[in-house]
Amino acid sequence: MTDASNKTFTLTNDQTGESVVLPVLDGVDGPSVIDVRKLYAQTGHFTYDPGFRATGSCDSALTYIDGEQGILLHRGYAIEELANKSDYMEVCYLLLHGNLPSAAAKSEFEHTITHHTMVHDQIHNFFRGFRRDAHPMAIMCGVVGALSAFYHDHTDVNSAEDRLISAHRLIAKIPTIAAMAYKYSIGQPFMFPRNDLSYAANFLHMTFGVPAATYEPDPVLSRAMDKIFILHADHEQNASTSTVRIAGSSGANPYAVIAAGIASLWGPAHGGANEAVLTMLDQIGDKSRIPEFVKKAKDPDDPFRLMGFGHRVYKNFDPRAKIMKEAADEVLDLLGLSDPRLELARELERIALEDDYFVQRKLYPNVDFYSGIILKAMGFPTEMFTVLFALARTVGWISQWKEMMENPDGIFRPRQLYTGEAQRPYVSLDQR
Ligand code: CMC
Repeated sequence: MTDASNKTFTLTNDQTGESVVLPVLDGVDGPSVIDVRKLYAQTGHFTYDPGFRATGSCDSALTYIDGEQGILLHRGYAIEELANKSDYMEVCYLLLHGNLPSAAAKSEFEHTITHHTMVHDQIHNFFRGFRRDAHPMAIMCGVVGALSAFYHDHTDVNSAEDRLISAHRLIAKIPTIAAMAYKYSIGQPFMFPRNDLSYAANFLHMTFGVPAATYEPDPVLSRAMDKIFILHADHEQNASTSTVRIAGSSGANPYAVIAAGIASLWGPAHGGANEAVLTMLDQIGDKSRIPEFVKKAKDPDDPFRLMGFGHRVYKNFDPRAKIMKEAADEVLDLLGLSDPRLELARELERIALEDDYFVQRKLYPNVDFYSGIILKAMGFPTEMFTVLFALARTVGWISQWKEMMENPDGIFRPRQLYTGEAQRPYVSLDQR
């Protein structure tokens, strides 16, 4: 962030004629921002931006999105390159530390993560408090939040060492907890992690393995899982990441902060969309009914929206959706499956992209449009889709939290435009 250019923006009060000069800050890329931090002190006014459509809430060096061009970069590397040439552990290191690791740093990082994958034995009992039919996202919110009760030894948020230890623990344990949430729901025993497997393969083992047999994860499926994790690793200041930053700005411990992120991700407008896409495709059922659902999505009086379509930032193809679509083809080919939902999704995409309503509003498929189809083909039940998103996004959340804690700006405390009653005298009960 720089204001070396001395660019400014002058804001004039049309009633009084008074004006203030506001600094304009340039990032490395993307639109410049008007620095309004002193606006209230200078003018007695706040800015008003519900939904944060025009507000930069922080500066960050992690992720860059150009929504018009459909570009997504992590620490300067394009998502396409990371998805096709890198692996999730490397992307985790990159997000946490800023650069790709050397071979030695990579193997040390993998060793650290691998050796933190087990959870405290008491957590097994904690699970048993949940109903078997609990939504796994409800379990994730509860168990991840509870981690601070189990790993209280390193939760000094002002210590760089503690922050890194918590980050490693969270990245390492989240697949174990996610797999446990699944196993619990189907009544199978929890599977211990295996240190000889990669991060993604170990997750498949903990999810689909059983103690009675040896499970060897398919390398192609493990690679597809790894790619799905990469595609979800971070995404700038979205709702859950902003939730993480806001929760963390009070000095809350990282486990509580990540639990807050998981809760925010759960909603269907955010991470819950992958589950909603599959439900929608099942509801549509047949290509002949697509026009009926497209009509509903366009009706301003109908709350129905095409799930997996549209994005606050992307006004072009979500680059992750393209990679996801290719991965869906690969996985279905490998498994020799032909999911009619894939055909339906392709046709829905084709029809929507030719429709003026979607064209004018620049509504394109997002990452969630095809992810559910792959996850279903891999054997995950629909309720697990958002859990997988949370698993993969944990590194983004914790890296954003770490970045914020390294350069704190104090507590996040937005203001409001008050629309309630003006002060009025209390009326006693017998007078109402
Ligand atoms: N189907 C039909 N119309 C839509 C859709 C959709 N999926 N998305 C946006 N619109 C319309 C919306 O009704 C509005 O129309 P009008 O201008 O006539 O009022 C216009 O497009 C602009 O929409 P908006 O609600 O102002 O856009 P937003 O930036 O607030 O919302 C969004 C972004 C992702 C919440 C929204 O597009 C949506 O609800 N999509 C479906 C849910 C979804 O797929 N979410 C996953 C997002 S990507 C992964 C993630 O972030 O977790």
